[in-house]
Amino acid sequence: MVDKRVRALPFSSIYNFRVVIRAVEVVYISGIGAHVGEEVEIRGWLYNKRSSGSIHFLIIRDGTGFLQAVVAREEVPVELFETLGALPQESSLTATGVVREERRAPGGFELALKDARIIQVASEYPISLKEHGVDFLMDHRHLWIRTPRQHAILRIRSEVVKACRDFLDERGFVLLDAPILTPAACEGTTTLFETDYFDRKAYLTQSGQLYMEAGAMAFGRVYCFGPTFRAEKSKTRRHLMEFWMIEPEMAFYDLDDNMKLQEEFVSYIVQRVLSKRSKELVDVLKRDVSKLRNVEPPFPRISYDEAVRILRESGVDFQWGNDFGGGDETILAERFDKPVFVHRYPAACKAFYMKPDPDRPEVVLSADLLAPEGYGEIIGGGQRIDDLELLEARIKEHKLPEEAYRWYADIRRYGSVPHSGFGLGIERTVAWICGLDHVREAIPFPRLLNRIYP
Ligand code: 4AD
Ligand code: MG
Repeated sequence: MVDKRVRALPFSSIYNFRVVIRAVEVVYISGIGAHVGEEVEIRGWLYNKRSSGSIHFLIIRDGTGFLQAVVAREEVPVELFETLGALPQESSLTATGVVREERRAPGGFELALKDARIIQVASEYPISLKEHGVDFLMDHRHLWIRTPRQHAILRIRSEVVKACRDFLDERGFVLLDAPILTPAACEGTTTLFETDYFDRKAYLTQSGQLYMEAGAMAFGRVYCFGPTFRAEKSKTRRHLMEFWMIEPEMAFYDLDDNMKLQEEFVSYIVQRVLSKRSKELVDVLKRDVSKLRNVEPPFPRISYDEAVRILRESGVDFQWGNDFGGGDETILAERFDKPVFVHRYPAACKAFYMKPDPDRPEVVLSADLLAPEGYGEIIGGGQRIDDLELLEARIKEHKLPEEAYRWYADIRRYGSVPHSGFGLGIERTVAWICGLDHVREAIPFPRLLNRIYP
């Protein structure tokens, strides 16, 4: 009967007719509040469940949120009630039902389940909802990312990346991707990952900076954002072997212009996360956001010399000329309630490309930005050497292969100008904003000294 009517209708009406039959709208849990009183379908995974004889409470997650579905014995067929009651954690399913407001349910809404379709019955899930050790969780990182805490962190990471891009895009920077396979080092030869490149040697990039310098001379202001690699035998809570760095580079910027841009950049990122992801920060991660609220320009600036004085006052036996360790950075940052710039490091601590201070050539026009609360250096940057002869001398002093840097020297040969830039480490920034103990949780799949699995 219905079939005949459908056949008798013109095509567009058939289409409409079908839509009317299939009235149940598929919705995401994040938007469930707009569907109170309606029958909807959600598609996801069984996160958790509990039963009280005649009712099952299923917690379903769909990637956008968690929703309680209530299954009453008298509302669904017996077999479905039994199947759902025995369904293992992380089985995939679709569920239809009516959305109700329910203050006691997580998120404030629940689904009065009418029907469900099991897509796959999961094998016994290795991550139960009790506590597990970090090594175990890291071995199961591919599953661990399904949990609320990891969700909160990785959503904040996504927001941080978007904020970085928006800030630079809105100011007219051009995104210029840097290569991953490179012929030479940017940040010293001791931390290079070497690979075979058709019978020649190539290295995984440590930083896109050198390419961004070429870009700045072509476009004025550019940035790259990508994975960078350091074969650093460091097993600290701040070190990854593979991390993501955003690296702006600006023609006609000196060290002061550079620091000014950085404090605006970092403040923008923090304020964006506070306004868009406060639920994740406060409700899930229990972050004390009062420490983030005042991250606004200007940031304090101290010279390396002043930093050494502070360390000595704090009882550290520190030699002028050494680089700061993690502990030193924590002591320095503790003095301030905002990130602090430490500028003009001894030339010997820094990379070959750093421009010497014309007033004091033993220090360079560099600046590191140290985050508060013991999170250490989140930005390294500075003004670059713009003089060809000096650059060539530095390449020799550092025993770098001149041939591989010929193109880089060209930047000083054809219209050299003062220029500066910096690199912000995404994971350290996320770890600080989220208040994490270790950067390993700030990246979906961390590469650590003892870990390249999963
Ligand atoms: O201070 P770095 O080594 O600076 C550079 O690579 C410059 N070429 C950047 C530039 O001027 N364009 O690294 C910059 C930032 C650090 O401040 C830190 O946030 C992060 O990158 N970083 C690391 N993050 C995690 N694990 C590691 N092993 C890191 N090494 C650096
Ligand atoms: Mg550095």
